[in-house]
Amino acid sequence: MITLGIETSCDETSVALLDNEKIISNIIYSQLEHSAYGGVVPEVASRAHLEKIDRLTTALFKEASMSISDVNLIAVTDSPGLAGALLVGVSFGLGLHESWNIPITGVNHLEGHIFSSLLEHPQLEYPFLALVVSGGHTALYKVTDVGCYECVGQTVDDAAGEAYDKVGKMIGFQYPAGRAIEDESLKADIDNTSISFPVARLSGSSFDFSFSGLKTSVKYFLADKNAQYIAENRPLICKAFQNAVISSLVTNAKNAARQCNMKRVVLVGGVACNRQLRKSMADVFGSEVYFPHPKLCTDNAAMIALCGYKHYMKNDLRFPRMNPSKGI
Ligand code: KG4
Ligand code: ZN
Repeated sequence: MITLGIETSCDETSVALLDNEKIISNIIYSQLEHSAYGGVVPEVASRAHLEKIDRLTTALFKEASMSISDVNLIAVTDSPGLAGALLVGVSFGLGLHESWNIPITGVNHLEGHIFSSLLEHPQLEYPFLALVVSGGHTALYKVTDVGCYECVGQTVDDAAGEAYDKVGKMIGFQYPAGRAIEDESLKADIDNTSISFPVARLSGSSFDFSFSGLKTSVKYFLADKNAQYIAENRPLICKAFQNAVISSLVTNAKNAARQCNMKRVVLVGGVACNRQLRKSMADVFGSEVYFPHPKLCTDNAAMIALCGYKHYMKNDLRFPRMNPSKGI
């Protein structure tokens, strides 16, 4: 069974082919067009998807030595995401569906991220807790089966990746800044704790996150510092910011796992590329934490194809419905 995955929800144009649950090919184009603006510009994203999607799909079939007539299912991200960006992928998928009479299913982008962990760990058993940490979302889900998710915590303001990108901009890094902040923090003296930022702790019974206060703390900290100070202390600033983000993510995951009685935890989404976060999660959960290869953490069509395939196997296909803000 061959599934064609299509992902265009934000600033990655990606197409992939899966043979059952195994990746045949997964092509990802990360739009560089946004770095000059310090963040994703929706109009620019839609146009860039439109320019690339056709060529990437041709390259995909060539790489796999296959053609569209080999495809048994099309899985396309239809929510959540940027409306114009989603529209490119959904329209492209529907065009192929109509022309070639191939079944199609819409896939929720966050559900796709959760399934990225199963691309590499197909033996992973339910139930598990999923920590989804990306540029647009930060949430904890109890996952009991394909299509069975309960959100037990989410950000009440910025997503963790968004905080990385905004703080990165303040200290002179290009968008997206997650990897640059991580690399810079590694240059800091490990024993120097002269700079620290507060970790938000929300009251209440859920495991919600908040990162906007942290972002504001960094902003106020930088307000009276000159360029030379910032340049000299950039590694320490990055380390302090990153420690606060990771502490919040890991503490909430630990508490949620305990309260929900979950042994296994998956860490997915673009921020899951972060080595320090992976290490901190492994320190807490040991061999019961699962994360995909970094290439499968950021937005990609292989995870969308797998999610579509899993629903197909449950006889649970749904026609793509554009709902840019719909979570799971
Ligand atoms: O999942 P993703 O590719 O797109 C969304 O669905 O948002 O995540 C992108 C986010 C960006 O905010 C980027 O800065 C962040 O992931 N990111 C990282 C790292 N690599 C990417 N954040 C922290 N450390 C990293 N190594
Ligand atoms: Zn994503």
